[in-house]
Order: sequence, then C-alpha cells, then structure tokens
Amino acid sequence: MMTASSNPFLNGVFKAQHNEATLSDLSVTGVIPPELNGRFVRNGPNPQFIWSDNYHMYSGDGMLHTLSLRNGKAGYMNCYIRTPRFLCEREQGRAVFPGMRDIALVEAEFENVPSFTANTNVIEHAGRMLALNEGSPPFAIMDAAKGDAVPDRFGGIIRQTFTAHPKLSPKSGELYGFSYITPDGLVDYSVLDSSGRARLITSFRPPYAALMHDFAMTQNYAVFPVYPLTWSMERVQRGEPIFQWEPELGSYYYVLNRLSGEIVKIFRDDAILGMHVVNAYEKRGRIVLDMVLMDDIPADAQAFADDSISYLNTLNRISLNLENGVLLRDRLSDLNVEFPRIDERWTTEPYRYAYLASTLNPHLPGFIFDSISRYDHLWGRMETFRPDEAVLFGEPVFVPVGAQEGNGYLLSYGYDQNKDTSDLWIFNAMALMQGPVARVHIPHRVPYGFHGNWFDDSSSR
Ligand SMILES: [Fe+2]
Repeated sequence: MMTASSNPFLNGVFKAQHNEATLSDLSVTGVIPPELNGRFVRNGPNPQFIWSDNYHMYSGDGMLHTLSLRNGKAGYMNCYIRTPRFLCEREQGRAVFPGMRDIALVEAEFENVPSFTANTNVIEHAGRMLALNEGSPPFAIMDAAKGDAVPDRFGGIIRQTFTAHPKLSPKSGELYGFSYITPDGLVDYSVLDSSGRARLITSFRPPYAALMHDFAMTQNYAVFPVYPLTWSMERVQRGEPIFQWEPELGSYYYVLNRLSGEIVKIFRDDAILGMHVVNAYEKRGRIVLDMVLMDDIPADAQAFADDSISYLNTLNRISLNLENGVLLRDRLSDLNVEFPRIDERWTTEPYRYAYLASTLNPHLPGFIFDSISRYDHLWGRMETFRPDEAVLFGEPVFVPVGAQEGNGYLLSYGYDQNKDTSDLWIFNAMALMQGPVARVHIPHRVPYGFHGNWFDDSSSR
C-alpha cells in the first residue's frame, strides 16, 4: 500500500512547490554568458491537491518555471497553469479529480469540468505559447506571469488531444504533430504552418492502442513508433490500471510520407519501449532513427505498478531500410539516460551531438539523473559531467550560439538534495567536462519536471 511518505512522486526532488514566486537579481556563481538573453521555461507536474497517496506524476497540475537571463542578470518566476481543473480545485480547496491510478467517478457536480492537465512541455509557435500534455488539448498560455490558460484546438483540427512532442521544421517553420487519444482510436497526423494555420494531413489506425509519447520526422517522412505499452478505457471501467505491458503484441514503426500522410512502410520489431526520439534523418534509402529505449523489460513487467516503467534507458540507433524492409537496432551506450535534446536546427538532418540527463550512481532509480551527458556520433563517445555535490538534474536544453552545430550552451535545473534548493546550471556545450560556466541560485525548490525550451529575446517567434 502506497503511503504519502513512501510515494517517490510526493517526496524529495518530486515534492510539489506550492509557493508561486517572482524573484529578481538572483545570485550567480560564475558568469552568465552575455549571449544568453531570453527565457528558459520548463513545464512539469506539480499537484495543487492530492486525490490519494497513490498519486502518479503524470497526473499533476502543470507548473511553469521561468528563468530569465538578460545582460548577465537572472530572474525567476513560477506559476501554476490555470486549467479549468486547477481553478475548480482551487475554488473547492480540495482534490476533485482522481489521478491516473485512482479509479473513481468525479462527483456529479463537477462532471462538466474538463479534467485535462497541461504538465508536460511548453513551446512557442506562431506567436503563441502552448503548454502540452498528450492526454489534453493544447493550452494557450495567455499570460506567462499568471499562468492563465485556455484550450486551443487549432481551429477545430484537434479533436481531443495533442502530443507533447510536436516537431518544428527548422527550414519551413511548420509544426508537425499528432493525436492518439481520439474518439475513434485513429491517430490524427496534422501540421501547423508558420503562421499557425492548422491542417489535418491524415488519420491512420495503429495496430493497437499504445501509449505514443513521441514521433520522429525526416525531410520526407514521419515515423510513428508503436510500443506494446497499451492503454484501455475498458480496463479503467473494470477498475483496472489504464496501462498494461503486452510484449506479445510486438513493436511497430509506421513510416508515413511527411507531406501526404500516405503509409509508406510498416516495420516490425521485438517488444521494446521508448518514450523519446532524439532525432531522425535519411541516409541512402534508410531512415536513421535515434531513440532512448528500454530493451530489457521483463515479459511479466507490471506497467506503473512499481512507480516505474523505467528499467535501463539507453541511447539507441534504429535503421529502417525503406528498400528491403530490414530493421536494425544498436545500443550506442550502456549509460542510463533520458530527456534527449539536440541542436534543433539539425532536426531531420544528419547531426553529431545528443545531450542527455544521465545516471552514474547505480543505486539511483532509473528516472533520477545525477549527471549531464553529451554523445558524439562522430567518435561514438559519451562524455558525462557529474558534480561533487548531490545534485539531481533535469532535461538539458541546448541554446545555439553561432552557426556551427553544437556551439552554444546547455541549461538544466539541478536540485541540491541537501539544501532543498535548485540552481540553473549553464554549461558550455563544447566543454561540458569543464563544468558549469555559471550557476544561478534559486532560493527554493524547482521540483523535477518534464520538458522546457529556451525562448530567445531576439527570436521573431
Ligand atoms: Fe516527453
């Protein structure tokens, strides 16, 4: 039986931050690079109220943590994303909506309040800031300082939900994405042009209802990994967990023509599980697809039953041969990693560097990261920086400086377990092993979260 004190998502680095703060002129160790003028905004689950001790982090309210850097100075603010669910529970002063693991009916009085959360990613496109969660429609953030948010269904294109991992075409400014939680079980594949006008490209039926957290894009193709972590509302209605690991179903990769949506080829693989795509590109009739994968999941694994679908997560390269249909898969490193990022100007292109949160301490669970790593595809080498202090890192976001791939900085929130405070760690991405060039000290805890992005002041977006 889970208790509040034994649930990892309610303690330590996951413990919710209820204080919404606005802080200026933060103290800094080192020197903030003068090229960094903008905002690092990160989303993550931060439950306002807990329905039960059985809480899972996927269910928490979204919170935006914004670290502003300007002329070598740093400020910080955090705010809840004010979805209808959040506002309803705030008004009631208690949890109204059950979490992912709690099978319970919402009280009749609140049946018409959408239970969506917006806790996974935050992006800007066509002048809009969007908070994303794959089980919800996008939420447009109307005021980043107050967290005011309204659902944005892209002019009706979004039927129900939208991925937290859309892909921006660096050349065209188009944003490609998909929805897999739909009324008829189809996957809707769609695109927004650079001005934000949305178009449904196609809908296709996956082999089974899988958790589809991410997808990949190359210059000519969209690739949808389908892994046998299935979801089922019928199971929920029977009082069973929504997710189930069903390895006998095997894994698939649906390759679609990126522009027309026509299914070009379907590849089959053994049962594996991956949450995040690193990058993908085309090379001599093949698609090279880099992903973080779990390829050693026991056949009898109980998804989410032990707070973990997280066995060993490693960096992998998958080759999909479009001519002969052969799939090859190679583990590139045995290091436990997650939250991959790249220099996103190289999205859909052959690229050299991947940046990852990583775990050196073998005693930590696989979803806790004590270090930051960079993988160099040219030399096939992983380099890892781990500080002497007990710091737990989140996703490293790359900020480009200059035209060359990989020239720039890595930003990541690091939580100090002893002080219960967080720093923004800033690394020179070309000199990761030299340690941070600056640490911005935030006098409160920034809990573990999911994804963020850098919004540069000079950007026209
Ligand atoms: Fe994600």
